[in-house]
Formats: sequence, C-alpha cells, structure tokens
Amino acid sequence: MNVVDSEVVAAILQQHHFEVTESLDEADLVLVNTCSIRDNAEQRIRARLKEFKKLKQQKEHLSVGVVGCMAERLKEKLMEEEAVVDLVVGPDAYRELPALLERVEQGEKGINTLLSRVETYADIEPVRMDQNRVTAFVSIMRGCDNYCAYCVVPGTRGHERSREPGSILEEVASLAARGYREVTLLGQNVNSYRYQEREHRVSFEKLLEQVATIDPLMRVRFATSHPKDMSDELLKVMAQYPNLCRAIHLPVQSGSSSVLHRMKRRYTREHYMERIEAIRKYLPEASVSTDIIAGFCGETEAEHLETLSLMEWVGYDFAYMFKYSERPGTLAARKYEDDIPERIKGKRLNEIIQLQNRLSLESKEKEVGRTVEVLAEGVSKKSSEQLYGRTSQNKVVVFPRASYAPGTYVRVKIERCTSATLIGSPV
Ligand code: 5AD
Ligand code: SF4
Repeated sequence: MNVVDSEVVAAILQQHHFEVTESLDEADLVLVNTCSIRDNAEQRIRARLKEFKKLKQQKEHLSVGVVGCMAERLKEKLMEEEAVVDLVVGPDAYRELPALLERVEQGEKGINTLLSRVETYADIEPVRMDQNRVTAFVSIMRGCDNYCAYCVVPGTRGHERSREPGSILEEVASLAARGYREVTLLGQNVNSYRYQEREHRVSFEKLLEQVATIDPLMRVRFATSHPKDMSDELLKVMAQYPNLCRAIHLPVQSGSSSVLHRMKRRYTREHYMERIEAIRKYLPEASVSTDIIAGFCGETEAEHLETLSLMEWVGYDFAYMFKYSERPGTLAARKYEDDIPERIKGKRLNEIIQLQNRLSLESKEKEVGRTVEVLAEGVSKKSSEQLYGRTSQNKVVVFPRASYAPGTYVRVKIERCTSATLIGSPV
C-alpha cells in the first residue's frame, strides 16, 4: 500500500514539474513514506530521519517531509519531536503537497493531516517506481472500518471507501498495454470493496471478474482479505478464471476464539476453519498465507497453543508473524493491559516462526518434481545468470536465464527447494 501511495505522490509532484531521482545527493526534497503499524516501524523511521538531519547540515536547501500513517498519527508533534521535518502530510492529503511545498520554499512549515471520506486518487495514474516493469500494485479501496482492537490503521487511514471501477479497469488496461503481466489489487480490506453510485453497483467479485477479462495473460492478485468477507461467491469467481492467482492471503491473527473476540476480529476459530474448507473445495490448488500476532493482551499459554494447532491444521504456505505491539489510541491500548512479558512474547513468536519454517518447507517440497508455470520477473540478485519469478501460488522460483526475458511465462521443472525458494530448470 505504501509503495503505491509513494507512486501516487510522485505522480502528483510530477504534474507540478518535480522529478524523481534515485540519488539522495541530487535530491532537493526527501519524502519519507511511513508506517505506524508497530512501534518498531516508527523507530526505524526516526532513525532514518537522523540520517537526513546529517545530510541537511551539509545541504542547507534540502527539505524533508514525512507522509503517510506516522504523519497522520503524530501530526504537529512530529515536527516538534523531529526538528529536521519541514512537511507533514497524511494519506488523504497528497493533492495538497504542491501548495504545501510552496510554503516550505518560503521557509515555513507545511502540514495537512485531514482525512477524507471520498479520496481514492482515482484519476491519478501512479508513476511506477518499481523497476521490473512486470508487476504493479493497483489501489482499489482505502481505509478500514473494522477497528480491530490492536490496530492503528482505521485511525491513520480513515474510513473505508472504494474507488470508482471504471478508473481501476482503465489503469489495469493501460498496464497491460505497456507489457505488465501482473497486478495486485490493494486495499486494507480488499474484499469488502463495494462501489455504488445510484443504480450502478459493483461488488468485489464483479470487479475481479472484469479485471480478469481485460487480458488473460495478465495475472491478478489481491491483498489483504478479511476472513469475514471471504465469500463462496468470490471463490467461485476465482475458480472460473485461471489468471486469478491461486494464492489467498487470509490473516488469522490468532487461532483462539477467545483471543479473536478480544481482538474484535468478528470471527471464531471455527468460522475461519470453515472458510479454509471452502477455499479447499473451490480452489484445491490454492496456497494460503496469513498474518499472526503473538502475545496479544491476556493471551494464555493454552490460547497460544491454539494458534499453533490451527497453523498446523491449515498448513500455511507462508506467514507474516509479529509480536504484539501496543499502539496509542487503539481499543486495546485503552481497554486492556499489555500484560504478556517481552520474554514470553519472544518465546511464543519463536515457536510460531519455527513451526511456520517447517510448514513453508513442506509447502515447497510438494512442488519438487513438478513442472510449474512461472512469470519471470527479473534477474536474480544472487546471480545474473539466473532469473526469478513466481508461480500462481506466489511461490518464488529461481531458474537459469537462458534466453528468457522478464515478463514471459516459463514452464520450469522444480528440482530442489529451500523453505523460501523453488529451484529448477526451464522445460
Ligand atoms: N501489533 C502487532 N502486529 C500488528 N498488526 C497490526 N497491528 C499490530 C500490532 N499492534 C499486524 C497484523 C496485520 C498486519 C498488517 O500487521 O497481523 O494483519
Ligand atoms: Fe487493521 Fe483490522 Fe482493518 Fe486489518 S481489518 S487494517 S487489522 S483494523
């Protein structure tokens, strides 16, 4: 989401005669796009700002701005705490950047952190800053109304709103025409996408179908789904279109119904399991990945063990795993005590990671000996003689470059694997 937001910011500034540079030495303006999801994300940004402070001492005319969630969360306080910051702009105020920058040029500070109920940047074609020119992110909805007890996002990104579907289809068609081969439709709660303007109503299922038919060579992914909105309808649509990727990211957060209740996740362990069964029924070949939080307020050892047993039952192909981090202003911060000692959080997270390492390896081992279709994305970082790409299931594959170019589909026979990567040869 932040990648695509940065691309929107670049597009807005380009319309006002700014240029993007790769080189910090060349830059007159540095914008840091920020995340507030966990405290360590914010600490890393603060460390980054210290580097820019040093740079500013050498380059007096350099301006530094903070955009995104941390700007939204801290507002003026960020300028007070970090003297290097000239500009603070929240996620719904990017159109104001050029005007704010004029003020900064006159030696003032610029700030706008107003949230919006309607802003989707629908008319702005992002300036693609990813270098592979094969895969792109397309934002289709913004904000979140779920208010999970631990989460800062509804506060920093505002209410849920869906982008006008015509502009989404145009953006994807334009990417297809430029040779892009994969889009990931993005939203904090992507499968609750719902657009309505008078009689014109478009559900997420309908939108996905329309995006899938633009170009059968264009792969389509989406993230992140909420289990409460993972409908049979959606799974049936996916089953109809082979270019809708067989990979579902379905954050579970915890395997314990009592923890899920405290987290305000609006589903139980049983409901989640029932949704996994539906995925297996309609899309038997789909991979399933998740997000997990270890050590949420009041989590008992028994509740933690329920997370491990659910992970094992699902057999996740991949997971993002975190220690609970209390965020100011959230329901959990107001209502519950962050009472799991750091040591226990660490131990539980470790157990979750150890288990996932085994599950990830098992998921990769299943592919050894098979021939899979890989969309080549680019040259491997480790060797210029190797290409890397992904399967529909989102598994990374590395194979000899030969005469294949990024952006092509290659059939690769998998010979071996690690827990993160499949290794094979084109057939
Ligand atoms: N502490 C730890 N992890 C969190 N996440 C969201 N808020 C927190 C928090 N306060 C995780 C969730 C979410 C992912 C994007 O970040 O797992 O799905
Ligand atoms: Fe945060 Fe929950 Fe919304 Fe996801 S669904 S962004 S975890 S509030």
